[in-house]
Amino acid sequence: MPMTLRTAQDQDATVAVAIGDSARAAEWQAALIDAAPDFTIVRAEAMAAPAVADFAVVWRAPLGMLSRFPRLKAVLSLGAGVDGILSNRELEPGVPVVRMVDEALTQGMVEYVLWHVLRYQRRAPELLAAQRRQEWLPIAAPLASERCVGVMGLGVLGEAAARRLTAIGFRVKGWSRTPRQLDGIETFSGTTGLAGFLGGVEILICFLPLTPETENILAAPLFAALAPGAFLINAARGEHLVEADLLEALAAGRLAGATLDAFRTEPLPADHPFWKHPAITVTPHVASLTRAASGARHLAAEMRRILAGEAPLHAARRDRGY
Ligand SMILES: NC(=O)c1ccc[n+]([C@@H]2O[C@H](COP(=O)([O-])OP(=O)(O)OC[C@H]3O[C@@H](n4cnc5c(N)ncnc54)[C@H](OP(=O)(O)O)[C@@H]3O)[C@@H](O)[C@H]2O)c1
Repeated sequence: MPMTLRTAQDQDATVAVAIGDSARAAEWQAALIDAAPDFTIVRAEAMAAPAVADFAVVWRAPLGMLSRFPRLKAVLSLGAGVDGILSNRELEPGVPVVRMVDEALTQGMVEYVLWHVLRYQRRAPELLAAQRRQEWLPIAAPLASERCVGVMGLGVLGEAAARRLTAIGFRVKGWSRTPRQLDGIETFSGTTGLAGFLGGVEILICFLPLTPETENILAAPLFAALAPGAFLINAARGEHLVEADLLEALAAGRLAGATLDAFRTEPLPADHPFWKHPAITVTPHVASLTRAASGARHLAAEMRRILAGEAPLHAARRDRGY
């Protein structure tokens, strides 16, 4: 049997992979073993003594899961959004929750945003509808510099998207909870900055975390404050959107279209009106998926920081809910 030599950097830690979907759990277990060969990486359901786990890697944290691991040094999320973990009452106070921050995840989200923003800017829905009618419709599209895009949430994903949209010429406005300064982007913050942010926005993209302050924010008053005939792209959470208000705004022409990647109920129920709405594009929560190989390297680095007594780089803050 080959002998495994330990190096000075090797650390002892037991990691429970607590992901319901077994194919996904196997993929993440293998990726974590590659990223941290010195750790013991075990599928949660196969652990005889879950109490020994130092870390739990989770996707969502249903009730009954976290209480199995009473000695955790951290909970690590496969997703960037951690609302489903922070709201779990079994989460011990003082146990950090590490968010997924990964270049591949960010790049995937930027690509999703470019796809849909350019689709709307180039008037693709009208051209495709005309093609279906076999109608030659030579309509002009405005240049990017003539379009104002608003990005709600200037965190990891929102900032990356806002910067890329600026780089290809869009006029970009951004909104965050606390003031941010970003080159070439007009920024606004807090509830007092919201009206100024929304004014004139023709394509609105939501990258907010789900918190009590942001739940139901995509609703009639917000739609009314946008430029008439604006488009909405929601790649954050379904609970941000008041669905009836969206349908009403589309019917009244206040909004011209929406692209939605996240929904209150997933999968979206078969009889949901969004499926067949001509102005709504539905994508099945695939705007950007976490890749196991690069995601596991991020989680391994965060676990090593914690074992070395340092704070993780991307811990959620419980006081603000994201
Ligand atoms: N559909 C998908 O495939 C997918 C994939 C990944 C993530 N997501 C979603 O995307 C969300 C954002 O991810 P992220 O990594 O960019 O998050 P993040 O880095 O935590 O950034 C969140 C941003 O939202 C701002 N914000 C929070 N509460 C606010 C409020 N009440 N008013 C105004 N701004 C507020 C924050 O302001 P400050 O800068 O002041 O803190 C920050 O700029 C996640 O929570 C998740 O729900 C979806």
